[in-house]
Amino acid sequence: MKRIYLMICLACACTAMIAQGKKDTPVYKDANRPVEERVNDLLKRMTLEEKVMQLNQYTLGRNDNVNNVGEAVKNIPAELGSVIYFSYDPKLRNEVQRKAMEESRLGIPLIYGYDVIHGFRTVYPIPLAQACSWNPELVQQASAVAAQEARMSGVDWTFSPMIDVARDGRWGRVAEGYGEDPHTNAVFAVASVKGYQGDNMASDKNVAACLKHFVGYGASEGGRDYVFTEISRQTLWDTYMQPYIEGVKAGAATLMSCFNDISGTPGTANPYILREVLKGKWGHDGFVVSDWGAIEQLRPQGVAADKKEAALKAFTAGVEMDMMNNCYNKHLGELVSEGLVSMEMLDDAVRRVLRVKFRLGLFERPYTPESTEKERFYLAESLRVAEQLAEESIVLLKNENNILPLQEAKDIAVVGPMGDTRWHLLGSWAAHGDSERIVPIASALKEEFEGKASVTFAKGCDFDGEDSSGFEEALQAARKADVVVVALGEKKNWSGENASRSTIALPDIQLQLLKEISKTGKPIVLVLSSGRPIELGKVEASCKAIVQMWQPGISGAKPIAGVLSGRVNPSGKLAITYPYASGQIPIYYNQRKSARPHQGKYQDIPNTPLYEFGHGLSYTSFEYGKLKASASSVSKDGRVTVEVPVTNTGDRDGLETVHWFITDPVASISRPVKELKHFEKKLIRKGETVVFRFEITPMKDIAFLNHNGDKILEKGKVYISVKDERVELDIE
Ligand code: NOJ
Repeated sequence: MKRIYLMICLACACTAMIAQGKKDTPVYKDANRPVEERVNDLLKRMTLEEKVMQLNQYTLGRNDNVNNVGEAVKNIPAELGSVIYFSYDPKLRNEVQRKAMEESRLGIPLIYGYDVIHGFRTVYPIPLAQACSWNPELVQQASAVAAQEARMSGVDWTFSPMIDVARDGRWGRVAEGYGEDPHTNAVFAVASVKGYQGDNMASDKNVAACLKHFVGYGASEGGRDYVFTEISRQTLWDTYMQPYIEGVKAGAATLMSCFNDISGTPGTANPYILREVLKGKWGHDGFVVSDWGAIEQLRPQGVAADKKEAALKAFTAGVEMDMMNNCYNKHLGELVSEGLVSMEMLDDAVRRVLRVKFRLGLFERPYTPESTEKERFYLAESLRVAEQLAEESIVLLKNENNILPLQEAKDIAVVGPMGDTRWHLLGSWAAHGDSERIVPIASALKEEFEGKASVTFAKGCDFDGEDSSGFEEALQAARKADVVVVALGEKKNWSGENASRSTIALPDIQLQLLKEISKTGKPIVLVLSSGRPIELGKVEASCKAIVQMWQPGISGAKPIAGVLSGRVNPSGKLAITYPYASGQIPIYYNQRKSARPHQGKYQDIPNTPLYEFGHGLSYTSFEYGKLKASASSVSKDGRVTVEVPVTNTGDRDGLETVHWFITDPVASISRPVKELKHFEKKLIRKGETVVFRFEITPMKDIAFLNHNGDKILEKGKVYISVKDERVELDIE
């Protein structure tokens, strides 16, 4: 009895102690309370200085970004909001995080951001290539791999995806986005956000995503970087906003403001875009980080006299976090004290940053478990995903007389500067990619054709310059071969940030090499690796086959070798138009209609591109049947399904992507000649017929946005098309 009594007393005491403990635990530290309560509780406890510090981001680790030079800050203040983390060592993260947790008054964890653009260590193809796979599920898986490697290495937040619609191949950053089409960018925005963030950002395998660069950066004049963009409100909504609308709906935790001046109001000081639309109309409750130095750059852009005014403009416009500007840390407190920024606005900004930190679970798990690199990187499944994505993003542009796959050749010569490089196959923004693992083109072909054909390599020339002393060796190799694989293209740093080119043609030396090889009369298979489409108008005729492998990442040349041997049946299709010549730029499929469609042509070059958006060949053949709609008219709230049967008439299985376009011939605001609204990729076995479907919801698929971003659905005819076939639909 006595013992029972004692035990009851003990249990009561324990319960009381726990209750007391709970009472003493601040609400913001209680993981069982809703995020909003925790945010508000923490905010209540913060001083003005602490609030301001939450809104700043410094760098930590060795800064390897050549375009964004800034001292890695050795002494990270304990109260700082965020760092860009140039390391993959959890130890360094934990050391700095410990300071924030233990030495700051309130123990608010830092959020660690980094540019994980197409993989962290297991680098997969550049985003432009990913789009050419037309496989968003695969891109989602690849983004999940990147998220897992990043989070396990101490990164909580990636500055990705870049969803800037880009139509000028001269702009180096076309490599970083999903091409020229708004819908394509929107679909891949959603896929990557889902892959990065998963169902629960707090999981130790997910990171917060960041849609960038909000908005219109892809419209940079002349393809030059950081410059002015002229974007009317109508074009803003028609072209540039769509991917962001979908990315925000998919739950992207953050956005990055852009460098560009949008018709007189830089994106980083643009209250319409950031406050009225993003936070107001769309109700986004995460935060906006400035691009690197973008606040400070409001001065050279001519809208702020000094850093203080730049801070005022950016902050009131709706940029919550200052990435490497030293504007908020220096001036925001002062601006609040002077009444130029209200405490309410400051609180709203801090709330947004804290919200994301809570959602990432940083208060519960501020530290990263110190796993080994083997536990994090190059897991079998991660490598498989990267390789499949590289395979599916390869685009077979030309294949005269089915020269590919190379089945008869006994002697293959590989020539060209791309043939033996590892480094350039990584692509720009390759995070912690290690090129040592990469198998270059010539070596991958040797392996692939082992026992079937001999493969010799002669470089011929460098990527640029004037040295043609290697031509003779290349010509000798070509003369002895049955077929010559000419491997040309771009260096890694020829695309990406601050990497514009005045022309998208290959440098002269590479063109000369190609010309000399073609004089041998040997059949040429041109393999291209680049971060942009390449001008081929003048050389296309001298090549029997042309394959664009883009920049595949660590899978290197194994996928392209598979395509050349026939082990892999190519299925990529262009997500960006391949101009005939640089002078056609801007050229994109969804242009507005011309007043005189049959006139207004160039006198010296064709008006049509060399390869259209959506172009891409396969080793099998597909025959498209007739389009069939479930109804010929539809009301605003109705539904219609249009179907097309596709038969694989060739002799091997193949993946086919069907692109569905709409055309609105007469509208109150002119519409593009056609607009992609839906796509689907499916495996079709040889001899099999598969039906592809487009379920049309008028408000989603037919309506368009006006200059305020409001949806308009107009009565009348629209066309639904696949390739050259179309059906008419009456909108009632
Ligand atoms: C500048 C780039 O424009 C942006 O895309 C990147 O995320 C930041 N620097 C951080 O590296």
